[in-house]
Amino acid sequence: MKKPNDYSRYKPRPYNEICPESTLKPSEITRDAWLKDAFPEWGRFLNYEIDHYTVPKGEVSMWWVGGSSWVLKTDEGSIFLIDPYAGVSHSTKYGECGVCYQSGAEFINWLKLTPQYLDPWAYERIDGYFISHTHCDHCDPYAVAAAKQVSDTSFYGPKVVTEKLVGEFGVPKERVVTASVGQVLSFPGAKVHILPNYDDTAIRTDTADALLAYDDCCLSFLFETSGGNILFAGDTWYNDAYVEIGATYDIDVATFDMGYNAVGATDKMTPFDALRFGQALRVKVLIPDHYDIWANIAGEPNLIIDQFERIVAEMDPGIRTVVMRGGGRFDYPADQDIKRYWYPDGSESYNFDKSAIRDAIAKRRPVLTDHKSKKKG
Ligand SMILES: [Fe+2]
Repeated sequence: MKKPNDYSRYKPRPYNEICPESTLKPSEITRDAWLKDAFPEWGRFLNYEIDHYTVPKGEVSMWWVGGSSWVLKTDEGSIFLIDPYAGVSHSTKYGECGVCYQSGAEFINWLKLTPQYLDPWAYERIDGYFISHTHCDHCDPYAVAAAKQVSDTSFYGPKVVTEKLVGEFGVPKERVVTASVGQVLSFPGAKVHILPNYDDTAIRTDTADALLAYDDCCLSFLFETSGGNILFAGDTWYNDAYVEIGATYDIDVATFDMGYNAVGATDKMTPFDALRFGQALRVKVLIPDHYDIWANIAGEPNLIIDQFERIVAEMDPGIRTVVMRGGGRFDYPADQDIKRYWYPDGSESYNFDKSAIRDAIAKRRPVLTDHKSKKKG
């Protein structure tokens, strides 16, 4: 296993310089002050990293920010948001929710397990905002409202999404692009290929009777970069039609939904589906997402991950698996063999020359006793 991912190519500033602490005295704290000071949980730490990290030439970097949300940065500095979510726990009801239609549930609670890793109001640059389908954890009014106001980015998605953006979210028409399968969009450092997506939940959202057309409801985005070709597949189900995409496109890394499905409502891909998805697409690296965010599809996340890694390793060892952690950065191709992401442990800033341990050794004193006696003194 690779050493925990470090910041050797990027030196972060102290957290409190990026995310200043409240100036309120403890006795002055109100509920509003708590909400303002304590959220998002990561403050603007990750915003700072994304803005200041320089992607080396010939690489591409991507941050997993929970659920199906990703940020991609190219070696030309352009930054893309894919399905960003900044909302909270919520319920969906029969009459509007594909999983409710499948299961017959009057309502389903979606309890959010992940922290908010990014401050959606603190982006310095957004080159493109991509939405795979209309569900709120992908097409989120909070994230859209922030991006609309702090940047001049355009929003890209299938027809059902762009109708929602203009009609419900109030995004100006001129900033919304209805993307269609086969289209190729050009940006600094990236070409984005619009590919089919087979999300059988999305096509029955808002309709109990007829299924909607895939291409109107859900899309996949393949980012062709100098570091490699990265696919974002939203909330797809496994479908044999992916064989055709694998035969047509060169895909290095694929991110995709994985999770636990209670009997009566299939929604997320299983570890076996993940393997078949990777084989159909002929990918080099598979990175699952989504299992982390909702309590009802989390199951036992470590079990799902273990099963995924074992199934792929034993049945198709030519495919690499990478399991990320929320807020972590994946650099391709540099990180393709990390297997499991480790958070930076801070040791890149350790300095033994200044260490109390070294000082104590030089003075032949027990380290801990020496430290305590200095404090008391
Ligand atoms: Fe989702």
